[in-house]
Amino acid sequence: MCSVSNIPERRKTPPLRGSLVKWEYTNTVSKITLSVCLADAGIVRVTYFPGAVPEDEPSYAVSPGYSAPGAEIREYDEDGFHVVETSLLRIRIRTEEQKVDFYDVATDEPLLTDEGGFGRESKDWTGDARVWIRKNLQETEHFFGLGDKPCALNLRGKYFSMWGADHYDFHEESDPLYKSIPFFLSLRERKAYGLLFDNTCRSYFDFGATDEKVLSFGSFGGLMNYYFIYDNTPLDIISAYTRLTGTPELPPLWALGYHQSKWSYYPDKAVYNLVERFRGLGIPCDAVHLDHHYMERKEGFTWDKQNFPDAEGMVRALEKDGVKTVLIVNPGVKVNSVNPVWKEGMERNYFCRRSEGNLLSEEVWPGLCNFPDFTAPAVRGWWADLFSRDIGKIGVRGLWNDMNEPVVFPDRTFPMDTRHEYDGMPCSHEKAHNIYGQCMAEASWLGMKRHAPDRRPFLLSRSGFAGLQRFAATWTGDNRSSWEHLKLANFQCQRLAASGISFAGADAGGFMGHPTPELFCRWMQMASFHGFFRNHSSGEFGGQEPWVFGQEVTSYVKAAIEGRYRLLPYIYTQFRRYAETGMPVLRSLALQCFTNKDTYWRGAEYFFGDHLYVIPIHEPQEGGRFLYIPEGVWYSYHTDSLMEDTGKDVWVKCPLSFLPVYVRGGAVIPHWPVQQYVGELPRPPLTLDVWWAPEGEVASHLYEDAGDGYAYRNGECAVHGFLYRGGTNSLELDWNCEGDPCAFHESAEVVLHGLPAGISVSACMDGVPCCGVMREGRVWKIPVKDKFDTLSVCWPEE
Ligand code: NOJ
Repeated sequence: MCSVSNIPERRKTPPLRGSLVKWEYTNTVSKITLSVCLADAGIVRVTYFPGAVPEDEPSYAVSPGYSAPGAEIREYDEDGFHVVETSLLRIRIRTEEQKVDFYDVATDEPLLTDEGGFGRESKDWTGDARVWIRKNLQETEHFFGLGDKPCALNLRGKYFSMWGADHYDFHEESDPLYKSIPFFLSLRERKAYGLLFDNTCRSYFDFGATDEKVLSFGSFGGLMNYYFIYDNTPLDIISAYTRLTGTPELPPLWALGYHQSKWSYYPDKAVYNLVERFRGLGIPCDAVHLDHHYMERKEGFTWDKQNFPDAEGMVRALEKDGVKTVLIVNPGVKVNSVNPVWKEGMERNYFCRRSEGNLLSEEVWPGLCNFPDFTAPAVRGWWADLFSRDIGKIGVRGLWNDMNEPVVFPDRTFPMDTRHEYDGMPCSHEKAHNIYGQCMAEASWLGMKRHAPDRRPFLLSRSGFAGLQRFAATWTGDNRSSWEHLKLANFQCQRLAASGISFAGADAGGFMGHPTPELFCRWMQMASFHGFFRNHSSGEFGGQEPWVFGQEVTSYVKAAIEGRYRLLPYIYTQFRRYAETGMPVLRSLALQCFTNKDTYWRGAEYFFGDHLYVIPIHEPQEGGRFLYIPEGVWYSYHTDSLMEDTGKDVWVKCPLSFLPVYVRGGAVIPHWPVQQYVGELPRPPLTLDVWWAPEGEVASHLYEDAGDGYAYRNGECAVHGFLYRGGTNSLELDWNCEGDPCAFHESAEVVLHGLPAGISVSACMDGVPCCGVMREGRVWKIPVKDKFDTLSVCWPEE
């Protein structure tokens, strides 16, 4: 199945290729070498090596594609320090003590300085070491990030572990969970930095829990190897971290639509009925996920012939109806001598073995299983080719990697003496555990790339390490239908975005239990403003489809899903920016408004892209709530009412019909009409909705392409830029475009919101008076023929 040339390249480091600069200091007594390596003006790698410096330690976090841009530097010695300066940083290296302190170069303010610095403890029985580092924690510092931790956003005063774990029914204090993303941000008013601890062993982060003056992190094995990341704002730092660990590919547009899932929809008739119901009720849906009942005896790479006698026929028929099929795939391969996958895995010796050489065999869903060693490139290549039928022939459009922490029954993981190839540096499970799931995701992603090369892959992975975004979207695992969990989902999705993973969602409605109609409604409304929007449940309490909670809630949920489809051009544009630059799509209030320390303990509110501000409702029967409105001009996205008081907490009514969502004055939000699935309209008419702000300039963007495939890489796309200028009785909008401005929409219209009542407007496009300007209720509509350079609108002064 897998030819030798199909074996992916072995992962290698040092990852900081390019024009980097490196300093090394060896302590002659301890024989520890401190290496400080500059990737660019704001990214510094610090490593402590006991003994010889290994040349080739693989990094699973840093993207193989990352190339260090390098930086102009100035260096000098000063009282026992070696000082290195870039345009952003002053790095003082205490050469004798092997300590590294980071300062802002302009103000000489300390950003992060060593307290005890590096420490190490040998474990005689394995020869491994425990490594840690202790830094000074400043009084004004607050911490964010760390992947899928479910607690409130601000991590100050807390302690966390990294050890990928299945945690059925987790709660706010549960730690660790499924993912291990050892990246955090520190915020102080006006200053922020990020730190990635690139070590795959079990690790910990102590944000002042043990000693309020000490920030420490460390691991039970491996190297002390961290990246300090500095830039002007937290969002720039997250972007830099995301570029270092790899920006994702642009997802297929359909994957940003609505996904329906349950454990499980079967037989095929149930799937057809499900889709029919969506279409009958006019509720948009782009994907159906099949959980493990589609398989024969839950064995991977099989279809249950009784329940799905014609898998290909079904997948193709659904596709005609606009619905893509996504299949769950677990890592365990059932021990079964007539299963060709198991036979081949055995023949090739691709399954994990214990230290004595015996196979690792453990129980999971199908029974006794063996487990591919995804840390070996050859195994990843083999696994990728196993998808030739489902992805290549049958036309399955997405894969869903589950149980890849990895989990074995009952409630455990692999024994620690399990051996892994670890891309050429063999090791035990202690070191490979945290990257096993990500390596599986990489192999599955490769399978999609190979067997559907003209399509963009869609993969979902429950587990992952720093850099997971290169391969997969993610969800937050087995949550519960409770208000508490709705809140945790809000925190987790914001936190994942701050950790480089914007394509994230939680099981909307809750996986376990059954939501009340109100909870379901609020959850679906929130999820419609997450990167990944999927309703999934355990199925134990019946269905959780959009229509099962009574007429009123069905209509609100339908409106939320429709709202998602109207907003797709905006969402897609945000994803394009994320894919290009690493800029997160969800941005917690504290990260966006970090100069305002009053925001540091808030958790509900977040920005969805550049111009929308979303406040999920965490409590039942909230007829209204206090919420913080950022400074500037903001309108209710749903009612167009102007927020009178900004820059403070205001009381806002919250009817069940929609979430409080606000749009920035001056923003251009592109919309499409509702479609039942992406591509239903080949060139959807485009509406450019603009909200009046009486002063200032606001930049907005729109990205358009075919929505799937790679033609955009050859220029088949349109990149639009808008610049809004406000006046007290006027506004102006500039529009520039790279590419054919009309290739991807059949028509365009500008819709103006928030203009004073009772006026009549006159509008000119490029100096020519516009025809067909129309008032409809409180908005003004202006048809656009192709495109304009400048639209000027004015109305008589009141
Ligand atoms: C655990 C996953 O988290 C859940 O989403 C899935 O439905 C079950 N496994 C069954 O496959």
